[in-house]
Amino acid sequence: MKVSIIGTGYVGLVTGVCLADNGNDVVCVDIIKEKVDAINEGRAIIYEEDLEQILVKNLKEKRLRATTNIGEAVKSADVIFISVGTPSRENKAIDLGFIENTSCEIGKALKNETNYKVIAVKSTVVPGTTENVIIPLLEEFSDKKAGTDFGVCMIPEFLREGRAIYDFMNPDRTIIGEYDKKSGDKVFELFKNFSCPVLRTNLRTAEMIKYASNAFLATKISFINEIANICELKGIDVNEVAKGIGLDKRINPHFLHAGIGFGGSCFPKDVSALISSVYENGYEPKLLKEVMELNERQKLWPVRKVNEIFIDLKNKKIAILGLAFKGNSDDMREAPTFSIINLLLKKNANIHTYDPKATENAKRIFGNKINYCKNIDECLNDADVCIIATDWDEFKKIYDKFNLMKNKIVIDGRKMLNPEKCKELNVKYYGVGYKNE
Ligand code: UGA
Repeated sequence: MKVSIIGTGYVGLVTGVCLADNGNDVVCVDIIKEKVDAINEGRAIIYEEDLEQILVKNLKEKRLRATTNIGEAVKSADVIFISVGTPSRENKAIDLGFIENTSCEIGKALKNETNYKVIAVKSTVVPGTTENVIIPLLEEFSDKKAGTDFGVCMIPEFLREGRAIYDFMNPDRTIIGEYDKKSGDKVFELFKNFSCPVLRTNLRTAEMIKYASNAFLATKISFINEIANICELKGIDVNEVAKGIGLDKRINPHFLHAGIGFGGSCFPKDVSALISSVYENGYEPKLLKEVMELNERQKLWPVRKVNEIFIDLKNKKIAILGLAFKGNSDDMREAPTFSIINLLLKKNANIHTYDPKATENAKRIFGNKINYCKNIDECLNDADVCIIATDWDEFKKIYDKFNLMKNKIVIDGRKMLNPEKCKELNVKYYGVGYKNE
């Protein structure tokens, strides 16, 4: 099938590359020429496992190319995906600016088209957006009618950053929100090679499934963090508790890792957007509000621990291992380290950091207010305390490095280390949901 993807963020680019690898002819579109050039030269513009390799393969086999020309991309496609960003406005509500512009541009390009094409929304948009914003703009600018002249679907994405290629190729489910059966049939055909359950539903239900999925996962994390805080007070290891409850099939063991809260470009933004969208309906989503508030408190757990150890942080050398919001990612958006570092800076701490991938992004945020180290050894050298803030695999093997520190104290925000092993090595261990004897 011929497919165009408007927007080459991690969702758009991964969708384009994977659909090309599946045998489709794909055109990726972006307004930023540097991004388009990079894609055409086989350079992945984001850090994503296996992405560059599959990109290069499909460029060579001529199933993929990129352009800034949206009109040409619409013309050549059977299915056109909208996968532009939907950032938060200052009041946390969703910003539909890119969606609106893209809908107008696609509408204009559809004007002189006679072939039936389906517009498939992949961007995360609050329930009702496809019907109330996107379709009216497509119709207005094309002078055509949805359902008759062109089709519309809403296909939410469930890709994790860092594992997006794997998730695309091995989905748990495909959700097809369809304006009408003809639109849904076309998209169904495109996804028929992926062996997973397919749920066909209406547009606003598909939009809601995306938000409800992220809100549920965020709730699961805040739930286990609440249990962790209770465990800590009662001298219980939360990880054992998570194992125990996860054996119940109704609960399942995934997403029960207590830690210093969720970050990234999705959970915080999506849960906040859902909250503000229902205020408009006169409903107060108290559970979701608490999920967010608990998460904000949880991010500062390491600073509370540091303060239990040292009352005055002035000139204390604090080593922070990990800056990204999660391992295998260079992304610092809404990362817990953002809140941690800002508070430690207010307390005049001397901060040294190390992250295998996110340092360049951190430099853009913190400039010369903190120190950036080339490796774990440099970061831990002569430190008063170490905070582990990201679940990078290499942080699981740092036991022999604690001798470099001034005080062998570790505050483990991501359950990277074994407390018993730390004890054997005379390392004072603090972990989320873990009480020291
Ligand atoms: C998340 C969802 O997992 C994807 O299904 C969804 O498609 C995506 O958002 C999106 O809406 O685009 P992502 O933000 O990449 O994906 O990251 P996750 O791996 O889900 O982790 C999110 C945050 O939760 C991280 O900060 C992670 O450290 C934290 N987390 C995760 C925990 O604290 N505990 C857990 O048990 C799991």
